[in-house]
Amino acid sequence: MTEALLRLSDVGVQFGGLKAVDGVSLSIPPGQRRAIIGPNGAGKTTLFNAITGMVPPTTGTVLFDGHDITRLSIHRRARLGLGRTFQITNLFPRLTVAENLRLALRGPVGGKFAIFAADRLTPEQATRAEHALAVCRMDRMASAKVADLSYGEQRQLELAMALTASPRLLFLDEPAAGLSPAERGIVATIIRDLPRTLTLVLIEHDMDLVLSLVDYVTCLNQGRLLTEAAPEAIRSDPDVRRVYLGTPHHA
Ligand SMILES: Nc1ncnc2c1ncn2[C@@H]1O[C@H](COP(=O)(O)OP(=O)(O)O)[C@@H](O)[C@H]1O
Ligand SMILES: [Mg+2]
Repeated sequence: MTEALLRLSDVGVQFGGLKAVDGVSLSIPPGQRRAIIGPNGAGKTTLFNAITGMVPPTTGTVLFDGHDITRLSIHRRARLGLGRTFQITNLFPRLTVAENLRLALRGPVGGKFAIFAADRLTPEQATRAEHALAVCRMDRMASAKVADLSYGEQRQLELAMALTASPRLLFLDEPAAGLSPAERGIVATIIRDLPRTLTLVLIEHDMDLVLSLVDYVTCLNQGRLLTEAAPEAIRSDPDVRRVYLGTPHHA
C-alpha cells in the first residue's frame, strides 16, 4: 500500500458545545485529487482549517508525509508543503497582480507582509511567479490592478498565489463559488491541467463540477464522515443523496 501523504486520525474541532468536526479519520495518497463534500455547516471548512493550522484540533492527529503536524504553526505547515486558497478573497485590491504575487512569494516578514519592501524577487522566484500566472491563465494581466479584475480573475489570482509556494498538497475551498458558468469552466480547466504530482483537496458545492475533477470523494455530514467513494458511486449513494441533495428523489 502506498504511504499516505495526509493521514487524519480521529480529528475533532469543538466550538463551545458544537462539534463542528467530529472524529474524522481519512487518508489521502500522494497525487490523488480528493473532494470533500457535504451540506452547508457539515464542517468542511473547519476541517481544512484544522489541517492547515488555522484552528487547533481539539482531538486527534494530523500526519503529513509521516510527520505529526497537529500542533505546528501555519507557517511551518506551509514550509512543509501545505498550500491553500481561501473562501473569502484575500487580495490587496489597490496593488497589481504582480505585486500581489510578489507579496505571496516573499511571505510575512517580521510578522507582517513587507508591502513596502522594494526588493526584487530572485530569478527563481520570478520564474515561479510567471509560471503560476501562466498556469492560471493570468499571464497577460501581470500589471493590471486587482480592483480592475473580474471576480473570476481574482479567484484565478488567488490560485496563482497559492501555487507560487510550490505546495505538495493544495487545499481549494470552493474555488468556483460565486462564478458565472463561463468562469467556472475556466477554473475547472485550470484545476484539471494542474500537474498530477500535486495532491489536491477540493471543497466544492457544484456536484457536477467537483465529480468531474476528482478521483475520490469524502462526504461529511454534521461534522462526521458519512461516506467515501469514487465519484460514480457518490452520485448514486443513497446516504449522500439524503444529506447532500436533499430528498431521495432529487436528481
Ligand atoms: N469559528 C467558529 N466559531 C463557532 N462556530 C463555528 C466557527 N466556524 C464554524 N463554525 C460552525 O461549525 C459548523 C461547521 O462550519 P463549516 O466548517 O464552515 O461548514 P462547511 O464549510 O461545511 O459549510 C457550522 O455549524 C458553523 O456554524
Ligand atoms: Mg465552507
